[in-house]
Amino acid sequence: MLEEQGLLQELAQIQVRALETLQAVQEQTGLQVWRSANLGRSAPVMRIFSRLGEVSKEERPLVGQRANQVKQALESAYEEYENRLQETALRSSLEQDRLDVTLPGRQPERGRLHPSTQTLRRIYRIFAEMGFQIYLAPDIETDEYNFELLNIPAYHPARDMWDTFHTTNEGMLLRTHTSPGQIRVMREYAPEPIRVILPGMCYRYEQISARSEIQFNQVEVLAVGEGITFSEFKGTLIDFARRMYGEDVRTRLRPSYFPFTEPSAEMDVECFICRGEGCAICKGSGWLEIMGCGMVHPIVLQNGGYDPARFTGFAAGMGPERIALLRHRIEDIRHFWANDIRFLEQF
Ligand code: PHE
Repeated sequence: MLEEQGLLQELAQIQVRALETLQAVQEQTGLQVWRSANLGRSAPVMRIFSRLGEVSKEERPLVGQRANQVKQALESAYEEYENRLQETALRSSLEQDRLDVTLPGRQPERGRLHPSTQTLRRIYRIFAEMGFQIYLAPDIETDEYNFELLNIPAYHPARDMWDTFHTTNEGMLLRTHTSPGQIRVMREYAPEPIRVILPGMCYRYEQISARSEIQFNQVEVLAVGEGITFSEFKGTLIDFARRMYGEDVRTRLRPSYFPFTEPSAEMDVECFICRGEGCAICKGSGWLEIMGCGMVHPIVLQNGGYDPARFTGFAAGMGPERIALLRHRIEDIRHFWANDIRFLEQF
């Protein structure tokens, strides 16, 4: 009877003391220390359990029950206190960080297409709308395709128009223009009519400067069929210029010379910087040259497998870097392949 009274009293004190010390705990580590002191194996309430033998059989359940209640009360006080600590910590970190959830997020850097690729794709789209297909020809060509079959024999002074990178393989070279692709398409499709464009990199053995590079893209245009006329040639190119530069752009064809076209011309568009008034970009002329072109030379048609008595055609060659250069007023052509992110980011 006495023992029972003593233990029950002790339990009440254990509970009061434990809850009091819990109030003094400030942070997590302190809380863990409190836990092992008050709920650990040798905590006062646990020791009561091992002393149950001191109590008579009749009273033992009562004391045991009471000890369990105290233990549970401490456990739930512990849990509650832990939650409270976590909440306070979270609140104060939110206050310190001053997180403004209404701010817009940081934009990830997006990649973009090279200005040449962008221009190439515009050209593809325009010609695709006009029913032209894209055909790819090799960068490494033979002298035969790059020159001979285009009516430029070895002795011909017109070879000076294309300073050439020759390879160590006799008769092999880096194409100086996309025109050799004309022969390749014709030989593949003759005697079917042809409407293709041939884009690709060209190479010229030149001193690199602000105005000339050793590599650049070209887009060759080729149409071959029965009864294709000069006015269709003109109409197609003017249509292209309008789609590329705007409905009201003015154009002109200037007589020129290429061994593989007859007659040959160069096409100019009204300078879109000064609208024809004359500026530094058009060197005061009011016009910008955008392509070489002409009616396919009968010898070239024949080399391609078409009978020049029945078939006619037209061809043109334009440079997307030149177009991009003019459009964006880029003052140095070397920017195109320098891979400088500060340049590329602007497009
Ligand atoms: N191949 C010529 C050049 O590189 C351009 C051209 C293509 C001219 C087709 C006429 C016809 O300058």
